[in-house]
Amino acid sequence: MAITLTRPDDWHLHLRDGAAMAAVLPDTARRFGRAIVMPNLKPPVTTVAAARAYRDRILLARPAGSTFEPLMTIYLTDNTAPAEIAAAKQSGIVHAVKYYPAGATTNSESGVTDWHKARPALAAMEQHDLPLLLHGEVTDSDVDVFDRERVFLARHLAPLQRDFPGLRMVLEHVTTADAVDYVRAAGPKLAATITAHHLLWNRNAIFQGGIRPHAFCLPVLKRERHRQALVAAATGDDPRFFLGTDSAPHARHTKEHSCGCAGIYTAHAGIELYAEAFAAQGKLDRLQAFASERGPDFYRLPRNRDRITLEPVPMPVPATLAYGEHELVPMRAGETVAWRLVSATA
Ligand code: NCD
Ligand code: ZN
Repeated sequence: MAITLTRPDDWHLHLRDGAAMAAVLPDTARRFGRAIVMPNLKPPVTTVAAARAYRDRILLARPAGSTFEPLMTIYLTDNTAPAEIAAAKQSGIVHAVKYYPAGATTNSESGVTDWHKARPALAAMEQHDLPLLLHGEVTDSDVDVFDRERVFLARHLAPLQRDFPGLRMVLEHVTTADAVDYVRAAGPKLAATITAHHLLWNRNAIFQGGIRPHAFCLPVLKRERHRQALVAAATGDDPRFFLGTDSAPHARHTKEHSCGCAGIYTAHAGIELYAEAFAAQGKLDRLQAFASERGPDFYRLPRNRDRITLEPVPMPVPATLAYGEHELVPMRAGETVAWRLVSATA
């Protein structure tokens, strides 16, 4: 049976820039009303002026007639000035600040080396009520890559909450039962986003019959027990878990490489993949809350007013998609997704 829901938003998205952005933006704009756009460009979007210019480029690249709204973020560094935070809040176009531990993931080289250095900016965010979005992984080389999220909770998140109790934070793309438990036990100022690929795949996907670079993302996929905890959180009652695809396109040759990039492209089926995960649980009735209600409520934005309809008809996914002068390999390439977007009505 088809389902109709309030148009969803994507609270964690990589759009890239230039021809790559023009290639991927229509996939998101067709499904989602708004998206929190990640600032990890080269160079990163560290100022309001850069965020404004990036937003203008996104608006120019929108398909004709699209009302998709990019919600901009700025990239926190050790030296972000409190005045930049005040200007971000004032701008009305910047909705959050992104914290990448330096070296944690794609284009995080300019990220935070030690958040104590960013205290003035964090205090300003607390004061102006501008949310902090966390890539919640430690980067210490002595910490096992599968433990990096769990270790971040005690080592960094708890002290951040203690030192900035008024700061609203989103633990982005949670991947472990530990993170789910942590968020559940925390107060209303902490929320989390969950990707579709972490709901559908466990870490076996990376090694299915050989090494699968297109299943490599950060935080890396975890074992089945963790996937189940994420599914329970996404389909459960806690309003602090909501949708963030973390769709992260990379040109095919940069993933099929001796040192392949992290990131999975899911925007081509950005809501359909979640429908699959929720249907597998018999919880399709919870999809609207997760995809369309809790995110805007946390960000204090109105919920969308228009609706989309999905039907349970297998949608074939091409083996590759155009990506500027290159190509990219989307999730489920050459296979099908169990749901199809039928219509989007105002
Ligand atoms: C993201 C990217 O490619 O920008 N990659 C990823 O694996 N998720 C960065 C990020 O969100 O960590
Ligand atoms: Zn991301």
